[in-house]
Amino acid sequence: AIRSVHARRIWDSRGRPTVEAEVTLSDGTVGRGLAPAGASRGSREAVDRRDGGTRFGGLDVQGAIASVRDEIGPALAGRDPFDQAGIDAALIALDGTPTKARLGGNATVAVSLAVLQAAAASRGLPLWRHLAGEDAVTIPLPEIQIFGGGAHAGRRTDIQDFMVMAPRARSFAEALEVTAEVYRAAGAVMAGRGLLQGVADEGGWWPAFTSNEEALDALVAAIERAGFTPGEEAAISLDIAASEFGRGGRYRLGLEGRELDRDGMAEYLMGWCARYPILSIEDPFAEDDAEGLARFTAAVGDHIQVIGDDFLVTNAALVAAAAQAGTVNAVLVKVNQAGTVSEARAACEAGRRAGFGTIVSARSGETEDVAIAHLAVGWSAGQLKVGSFARSERMAKWNEVLRIEEALGARARFAGLTALPFRRS
Ligand code: PGA
Ligand code: ZN
Repeated sequence: AIRSVHARRIWDSRGRPTVEAEVTLSDGTVGRGLAPAGASRGSREAVDRRDGGTRFGGLDVQGAIASVRDEIGPALAGRDPFDQAGIDAALIALDGTPTKARLGGNATVAVSLAVLQAAAASRGLPLWRHLAGEDAVTIPLPEIQIFGGGAHAGRRTDIQDFMVMAPRARSFAEALEVTAEVYRAAGAVMAGRGLLQGVADEGGWWPAFTSNEEALDALVAAIERAGFTPGEEAAISLDIAASEFGRGGRYRLGLEGRELDRDGMAEYLMGWCARYPILSIEDPFAEDDAEGLARFTAAVGDHIQVIGDDFLVTNAALVAAAAQAGTVNAVLVKVNQAGTVSEARAACEAGRRAGFGTIVSARSGETEDVAIAHLAVGWSAGQLKVGSFARSERMAKWNEVLRIEEALGARARFAGLTALPFRRS
């Protein structure tokens, strides 16, 4: 049974306060959960409880810690840590709001993850194995950022993530090898053009470009410079994060100084899909633009993965509705967007039932916690997105998957192309 729940303030990868929860079981086992934090958030996702005021920019989390100490801890004491669904239902009921705004999504997610870790530790199992049971698992295809833009780089580009995927790699280890070469080559391309200015929040090169398309050209140049054929060993994946610059069917491209309507935005993106080897696009239209999404997915969804992040906010009901409406063909799964492990798992399963691609994802504000690497494997999500190929809050997660792949040995099955909601031969 759960003996106690403790929370403390720790610091995330942006040097901002966040919540760490520790659950101690009656057998002495301790499980730890750490809350990440987004910067480009969907309007319907779970809300962090922040103190406001001036200290640490108003971002302190003493209120969220008090939620754990005064309410969550007493409510969970004595409960069965193996009943994750029951624990998470109790957290949802105790909060009582649709967005966990009262207790704080940062409090609930830290505790929910801590319970999960304690249960796994108490069985002496790695988290991924605790989740998967005896089932065979799939090692995820990584989606890795090369240039970071949008809200993660002072809006230096409108587009948020310029990433690569290596779906033809034979293993996760090989996919990282491909990415390492492309990341290095991209740095050299930037240096050669006099554009090297350090890295953005998730470790991707800071995008000192004068147009969004220049970033795409540089990415293609990096793939070639690394010795690969664009679209073969390495393909392009984008997170447009269009809710950051679009609303009411209008899209304001700050970098290029122009505004597009829905049709103009579709033309803009379709032009890229025709000219660049793009395999996946996330949030190509704003979260309020289901019509733009549906038209786009109807046009390219047979060969491009269209991911809902801000649009679906890791919500199983929204995933099911999206499957009905054909607005997207893949779902990003962020545990803190839902606020509990069980809700995130339900969103992932709703995606799987719909034949969607399912991508477990980190946030732009991260910690050293590697739990999501285990979730991606344990849930056989098929894909994993944790940012770039630099900064150890990112590398810790990639490296953890390497360990799991090695532990599985000959039983490791790398998702590769099969992770996508369509098959490319
Ligand atoms: P966030 O962005 O963590 O800053 O919200 C990540 C994403 O949009 O995928
Ligand atoms: Zn996103």
